[in-house]
Amino acid sequence: MQGFVDIHSHMIPSGDDGVRSVDEAVELVLEAASRGTAVQYATPHAMDRHPFTDERRRRVTAAREQIRARLEGRVDFRVGWEISPEPWLLDADPRMLSMEGLDACLLELPLPHTGPRNLNTFVACGEHIAAAGLVPIMGHPERCDLVNGDLDQVTELRGRGWLAQVNASSLLGRHGSCVQDAGWTLVETGRADIVASDGHRANRPPWLDEAFAVVAARAGRERALPLFTGAALAPLATLPLPQAEPA
Ligand SMILES: [Fe+2]
Repeated sequence: MQGFVDIHSHMIPSGDDGVRSVDEAVELVLEAASRGTAVQYATPHAMDRHPFTDERRRRVTAAREQIRARLEGRVDFRVGWEISPEPWLLDADPRMLSMEGLDACLLELPLPHTGPRNLNTFVACGEHIAAAGLVPIMGHPERCDLVNGDLDQVTELRGRGWLAQVNASSLLGRHGSCVQDAGWTLVETGRADIVASDGHRANRPPWLDEAFAVVAARAGRERALPLFTGAALAPLATLPLPQAEPA
């Protein structure tokens, strides 16, 4: 079978709450590879608290080259950005923030601690991305308290061609039962397009094997495979997605 395609992680030092060094990234990504990951995206935060600046972009690009050299082709290591739904994006060119090798941007749903009262800014940001010819990938909708009690909103936005990315950690119950239930509902009703790790550091690592086993056991291997191997990304791919065998 194909290896896992993990489109959401913080496996690059960028000054956010992900890994702090190239060494740390390489160690965790190699462990991910040993657990079946073939393509590892690093998606540092782009948000008011961790702004998308030229300096940060240069830092991420330099770290990417160092990490790639150290990985020696054992993992296809790519970079994107995890965009927070904030007004600054509406003045930015989404193509600068897109996922390497995909006509898409990863746009997270607002988390409860950021205190949004509605999805207006999120939807405006997604429409701004779509207007640039890119597909918004909705990051962890199950973790958003404006959405996880009313998953019809995911249905509506997927109806526009947007994709839904569920966190592996949510399915494993690491963000509470309400988030876990919403994640499983999205998987079991066919409204999850991709499962990704959102791995940050060793205490929240970028592994997908455990969640894959659980989804395969509960929903069937045929349903699990496309979610973990990036099947939904194929129409958006501008670089080939490898057909590697997991270790
Ligand atoms: Fe993230």
